[in-house]
Amino acid sequence: MVKTIEWIDGKVRMLDQSRLPREVVYVDCPDYQTVAEGIKRLWIRGAPAIGIAAAMGIALGAQELKAKDFEGFMKGLEPVFNTLLSTRPTAVNIQWAVERTKRLLSGKRGLSAAELKALLIEEANNVLKEDIEVNRTIGRWGARFIKDGDTVITHCNAGSLATGGYGTATGPIRAAVEQGKKIQVIADETRPVLQGCRLTAWELMEDNIPVTLITDNAAGALLRKGEINLAIVGTDRTAANGDVANKIGTYSLAVLCKENGVPFYVAAPLSSIDFSISSGEQIPIEERGPEEVTHIFGCHIAPEGVKVRNLAFDVTPAKYITGIITEKGVFRPEDLHKLNEKDIDLEAIRMKT
Ligand code: MRU
Repeated sequence: MVKTIEWIDGKVRMLDQSRLPREVVYVDCPDYQTVAEGIKRLWIRGAPAIGIAAAMGIALGAQELKAKDFEGFMKGLEPVFNTLLSTRPTAVNIQWAVERTKRLLSGKRGLSAAELKALLIEEANNVLKEDIEVNRTIGRWGARFIKDGDTVITHCNAGSLATGGYGTATGPIRAAVEQGKKIQVIADETRPVLQGCRLTAWELMEDNIPVTLITDNAAGALLRKGEINLAIVGTDRTAANGDVANKIGTYSLAVLCKENGVPFYVAAPLSSIDFSISSGEQIPIEERGPEEVTHIFGCHIAPEGVKVRNLAFDVTPAKYITGIITEKGVFRPEDLHKLNEKDIDLEAIRMKT
């Protein structure tokens, strides 16, 4: 399985996904500003992966601090947090990484600056390790809903590349394959920047998982023909009511699935569920530059000067979602908020196959 990001020799090494699949190039980021640049420019992308990059960026930023006392250290981290938070607004994972760091440090007042710096490197590596474990658990829960012989459609890339490894939406796919189920994957190409074509098709082929690439426009026709058994996608931020923000085009796919009676699942690690917001309407939607729409790999394909709208994400209302696959089990969207309650009987609300 391909390595997305790692902490190595005091630097953050990330695979430059903007060049895939034509070139496999790793970039070494020596400071947090380069990590932030990499997130903005999609060298690294996918909600969990940018959460890990943020945790590593914070650790890098901390190494440069000159402060000797705790207050000075925390103050010094503020610009690091703010720079990382300003990169991409939709995925909640950067915020999640910042809050996790603040929580960790709040209990460590007694440590020296050198100890705090070492702690943040350890924490960033923990975030990466935990992410892979979470994805494997999501995989095991989700694979129960995939039958031998099924064809699964996915949108964008919620695979190894979008995470520390194994993937969220590809988690159940990989687990089903490991269980010996013979399945097929349909990958939407995912305009404008083609994560389905460049990344999902590539990583599944690397791992010998049968994949067929389609244009985004073809999904409806295949669903109507009965050639697809279920959909599994990832999420950048899921609200407490089960509304899901994910790559632009997810909403259209979900509506088409509902219309054709095909179950639509969202793989959502708890780190991408924002229990502080009650509905998807509160999720900030990133709009990116026009060149992603007017150009493909640097080649101009639109009339010069045309007006462009480039929404990077959309929100799929909970009513289109069959189940949300988390590391705690698979839940109906209307039960999701219960995961944030104390003493909840998870078994009572888990979806059964
Ligand atoms: O713009 P991107 O490539 O960062 O968008 C990624 C997605 O929409 C993914 O589906 C989502 O982040 C989940 S990744 C496990």
